[in-house]
Amino acid sequence: MTKPTTTNTGTPVVSDNESLTAGTQGPILLHDHYLIEKLAQFNREKVPERIVHAKGAGAFGELVVTGDVSRYTKAKLFQPGARTESLVRFSTVAGEQGSPDTWRDPRGFAVKFYTEDGNYDLVGNNTPVFFIKDPIKFPDFIRSQKRLPGSGLRDHNMQWDFWTLRPETAHQVTWLMGDRGIPKSYRTMDGFGSHTYQWINAAGERFWVKYHFKSDQGIEFLTQSEADRIAGEDADYHRRDLWDAIEAGKFPSWTVKVQVMPVAEAEGYRFNPFDLTKVWSQKDYPLIEVGKWTLNRNPGNFHVEIEQAAFEPSNVVPGIGFSPDKMLLGRVFAYADAHRYRIGTNYAQLPPNRAKAAEVNSYSKEGPMRYDYNDPNVPVYAPNSFGGPHADAAKAPDGGIWDFEPTMVHAGYIEHREDGDFTQPGTLVREVLNDAERDRLVGNVVGHVLGGVQEPVLSRVFEYWKNVDSDLGKRIEEGVRAGLNGQ
Ligand code: HEM
Repeated sequence: MTKPTTTNTGTPVVSDNESLTAGTQGPILLHDHYLIEKLAQFNREKVPERIVHAKGAGAFGELVVTGDVSRYTKAKLFQPGARTESLVRFSTVAGEQGSPDTWRDPRGFAVKFYTEDGNYDLVGNNTPVFFIKDPIKFPDFIRSQKRLPGSGLRDHNMQWDFWTLRPETAHQVTWLMGDRGIPKSYRTMDGFGSHTYQWINAAGERFWVKYHFKSDQGIEFLTQSEADRIAGEDADYHRRDLWDAIEAGKFPSWTVKVQVMPVAEAEGYRFNPFDLTKVWSQKDYPLIEVGKWTLNRNPGNFHVEIEQAAFEPSNVVPGIGFSPDKMLLGRVFAYADAHRYRIGTNYAQLPPNRAKAAEVNSYSKEGPMRYDYNDPNVPVYAPNSFGGPHADAAKAPDGGIWDFEPTMVHAGYIEHREDGDFTQPGTLVREVLNDAERDRLVGNVVGHVLGGVQEPVLSRVFEYWKNVDSDLGKRIEEGVRAGLNGQ
């Protein structure tokens, strides 16, 4: 039998269709509190969209550990045989909530693990590197990729202006303009933790690690023209694909692997291992298998479980720590701050964000939308003599420990012998891409640049690509000049 409609507090309402008026033609009455509740709720039914990664899709699943990395980390979720419930949100970066899934952009790959020691979040991308290496540049970078302040239009000139003025972007831009810049689906892309993290084993030994999630579906991409067509036909192409696959029981999975670097090897390594614009060679540090991560459940409610999901690189658990990667350290601040603004002080109590496998014994108290509370006999201050929780350093993650010179400086990274902004993108173009992939890279850059890049930025674009690879740069210049001359 159909249930009666009620107000938000459970009282049956008179009508779903007609408001209360003074006579048939008379004014609407203010004491029709159900009408007021309905309109007021509607006005408030969205939360602000994320400042970046606004458009996304998500699902639940689990990590099953098949390998043995216990000699590198004591983290419970990575011990042999462990199974941990997980949530993921995939996203584009610069587009707004309704923007097409198939615009060229990196893809977010944000994973939450509900572990016995509290939530562990790995908030990565589908690329192992990033455009910049210092968090102070993040707002500038993002603004250059979004919209002009006057017209509200996207602007390729602004994008290339920023990129060419900051050559450390070259590695990520090479990825972005190549096939990986438009995955065919969220299922057919890899994920990366991107930053260097720290692992700590039971004996207290420390290692530097990088995470790789290798798609078991294989890597597939869309060409620019396929993506342009789909953007018009189905803006939610990737969201739909993920949903449909899981509904059909075709559960996508990824093999989780790590590269591990003994702490002592960081100093002499040919690249600065904490610089987010660099990868570690897999010849130097081969991939080690950790486990299988599978998505097997769609959200029951998109807004509650995906839109209100809050990922934060500050969520680490014992056995995992941070590193001297300045970007990572900046992010450890930025996300919790963003959540307090976007979804409120008590965001950690929302269903996707609350700890599921760990007990929460926090001294945080009250604030808007609070509904969880401790037993009234638990003191609200520490220390106390009445049985309230006590911090226990032995059980806590230590955040990661490393040596550094205790001097305050505004400086870049320590230069290692093969560092240089164009070294790794050049290797990627010459040694990793094949002829067809290189051709598509040239075509994608030419098409993008012809979308409005002007002098003086244009000349810098040619120089930028010649620095990556002289032949590639020449081909890009020829292609763009031919396009400008209408050939
Ligand atoms: C989302 C800041 C770099 C991956 C966000 C959000 C902020 C932010 C404020 C929105 C959070 C929200 O409202 O829920 C920053 C800052 C960065 C930075 C300040 C540099 C210092 C990166 C990097 C990666 C990354 C390097 C990947 C390696 C993501 C992802 C999301 C996100 C995947 C979406 C999370 C979700 O699905 O809810 N970032 N970010 N960000 N960021 Fe970053």
